[in-house]
Amino acid sequence: MAALGAAVWWRRNPSACPYSQRFWIEAPHPVVTRQRVLEALAPRVGERLLEVGPGTGYHSLAVAERLGPDGRLDLLDVQQEMLDHTTARAAAAGNVFGVRADAREMPFPDDSFDGAWLCVVLGEVPDQDAALAELARVVRPGGRVVVGEVMLDPHYVRYGDLIERARRVGLELEHRLGGRLGYVARLRAI
Ligand SMILES: C[S@@+](CC[C@H](N)C(=O)[O-])C[C@H]1O[C@@H](n2cnc3c(N)ncnc32)[C@H](O)[C@@H]1O
Repeated sequence: MAALGAAVWWRRNPSACPYSQRFWIEAPHPVVTRQRVLEALAPRVGERLLEVGPGTGYHSLAVAERLGPDGRLDLLDVQQEMLDHTTARAAAAGNVFGVRADAREMPFPDDSFDGAWLCVVLGEVPDQDAALAELARVVRPGGRVVVGEVMLDPHYVRYGDLIERARRVGLELEHRLGGRLGYVARLRAI
């Protein structure tokens, strides 16, 4: 009963998963596997990509590797500890840069990125519409935005809600991976 109450509270009060709770995001991820994210995002050598809410970098390193030395991966997170953790892990790649900021107000010019992704993050943001609008703004037209969600997460964003919110800011669905327990959706910026 207490667990249910806590889950309801978390759902109604979007907030960032604290760094002290990072063991949750260091465990193997169901649904939003590295393989699925790589498949949906399809990173290419030389591209500039953005990850919002990297946490401790579960997906970041695999993507950074695909971009090569001429590519660049920017990480945006509200928690400096998450950024420090992930950029330290990715130091050898030499193409990963962190910025502490909020997904609702990104410090990047329009059309800065070829693509962006966020996994198990959107439901933690107090204003999902603002975050999606910012993604649509900073990703160039024709670029992709990949959103991963896991149903077990108390901040789970329902697929139908995502697609409706995304459509309103100019992100249209290209395809969806995953089954009943969650999804990795690839959206296209128009
Ligand atoms: C549950 S963790 C997911 C980490 C990682 N994406 C993964 O799949 O392992 C959520 C991450 O989003 C970040 N976050 C939450 N709210 C945010 C916001 N409003 N703007 C930017 N980052 C945010 C948190 O600090 C945390 O690093």
